[in-house]
Amino acid sequence: MPTADTRFSVLSEDFAADPYRYFAGLRERAPVLHEPAIDSYFLSRHRDVRRVLTDHAAFSTAPLQVRAEPVMRGPVLAQMTGAEHTAKRKIVVRSFSGRALQDQVRAVRANAAELLAPFLPLGRVDLVNDLGRPLAVRVTLDVLGLDRRDRELVAGWHAGVAEFITSITLTPERRRHCLDSAEQLEAYLRPVIQERRRRPGDDLISQLCGAEYDGVALTDREVTALVLNVLVAATEPADKTLALLFKHLIDHPEQLAAVRREPALLAAAIAETLRYTPPVQLIPRRAEQDVAFAGTTVPAGATVFCLIGAANRDPEAFAAPDTFDLHRPDLGAARSFTAAAQHLAFGAGLHQCVGAAFAKAEIETVAAMLLPLLDQVRHSPGTRYRESGLYTRGPVALPLEFTPVPGGLPPS
Ligand code: HEM
Repeated sequence: MPTADTRFSVLSEDFAADPYRYFAGLRERAPVLHEPAIDSYFLSRHRDVRRVLTDHAAFSTAPLQVRAEPVMRGPVLAQMTGAEHTAKRKIVVRSFSGRALQDQVRAVRANAAELLAPFLPLGRVDLVNDLGRPLAVRVTLDVLGLDRRDRELVAGWHAGVAEFITSITLTPERRRHCLDSAEQLEAYLRPVIQERRRRPGDDLISQLCGAEYDGVALTDREVTALVLNVLVAATEPADKTLALLFKHLIDHPEQLAAVRREPALLAAAIAETLRYTPPVQLIPRRAEQDVAFAGTTVPAGATVFCLIGAANRDPEAFAAPDTFDLHRPDLGAARSFTAAAQHLAFGAGLHQCVGAAFAKAEIETVAAMLLPLLDQVRHSPGTRYRESGLYTRGPVALPLEFTPVPGGLPPS
C-alpha cells in the first residue's frame, strides 16, 4: 500500500523496479504526491494530468528549460511559447510529413533489413539491443542527413545528452560526462551546419538552415538546439515502443494471431502499447500560480511531474485499464496519433509530440516486416524480463527465438 506507508517514495528502488504496481494506490490515495527529497509533486489521475498539460497559463515548461538548456546548447521547442513555438514546430513537422515521410519509411525498411539480416538464419534476436536501439539511431541520423559512418560516435554522445535530460539525480561525474557529450556533439554538428548552409539537401538540418522566423534565418545555435531536440526526442521512445509492442503481443498470443491475420490492426496494437506502457513516463511542468487538485494545493513555483503511465491506466479514462487489449472500444486507434488521442503517451496540448505520425509509420513499418519473418516467435527460454528508467522506460533487453530463416530476407 504505497501511500499509507509514509516511507513510500517514487524515487525508491521498489518503485523503479515496477511502477505499475503502485499506480492504482497513488491515483486512489495520493493523487497529488509531494516528494520531499526533490520538493516536487507527482500527479497520477488522467484528468489532472490532462489539465496540467493543456492549461498553458497555469503550467509552464520551465523545468524542461533547466533540464535541457545545459546539454541542448540553445532553445528547444519544449521551452518556446507563442508564435515562435508555432513557427519552429511547423518547420520540424514539415520534415516528417508528406513526401518526406514516404522517403523516411523506405529508409526505415532498408535499415531494419540490414540490421536484421544476420539474425534471421540463427532464429534468435534481441529486439532491443540487436534491432530497436541501433535502428532508432540510424533512422534519426538519416532524417537529419548525418553520415552513417559516424553513427557509433553520435550514438555515444546522444546517450550522454539523453542521460542528462532523463535523470532525476546525477552524480558530479555523470553530469560532467553528459556535458562533455553535449560539447562534442555540438562541435561535430558545427561544420555540418555550415556545409548545409552552402549546399542544402533534403534533410532536416538543411530545412532548418533554410528556414526563417520573423524574416530572419535561424542561427547556428538555434539549428543545433533543434537538431539535438529531435535527436533525443525521436530516438529514446521509438525503440522502446517497438520492443514493448512485441512483448505484449507475444504475451497475448490470441492478439498476436489477430494482427498476423489482419495487419491493419497493427496501428491499434501500437496505440494500445503506448497507452498500456508509455515509454515517456514523466512530463515535468512548473505551476505558475496556486492550483488545487483533489483537495491539495500545488503552490505557485512548484515543479509538477505528470505520471503518464498512471494516467493512462486510470479507470475513469479506460475500462479495465490494466488489461492489454488492442480491440478496446475506448482506445480510438485512428485518433491515438493525433491531438485528439485519449491516451497521454504523446503528451497533450501545445507541446504534444511533433513526431507522433512519424513514430507510428516507423514502428508500423518495422513491425509489419518482422511479423511474417518471426514465425513461432517466443521469449528465449531462461531469460528474465526487466525494464529500466523512471523518466523514459522500456525493456533492458528482449531476447526472442523464432523459426530460423535459412536464406535470410527475401528480396523486396
Ligand atoms: C513512440 C514514440 C514517441 C513518443 C512516445 C513520444 C513522446 C513525446 C512526448 C510525451 C512529448 C511531450 C513532452 C512535453 O509535453 O513536455 C513529446 C514531444 C516531442 N517529441 Fe516525441 N515521442 C515519440 C517520438 C518522436 C519522434 C519520432 C520525434 C521526431 C520527429 C519526436 C519529436 C518530439 C519533439 C521535437 C517534441 C517537442 C515538441 C514541443 O515541445 O513542441 N518524438 N514526445
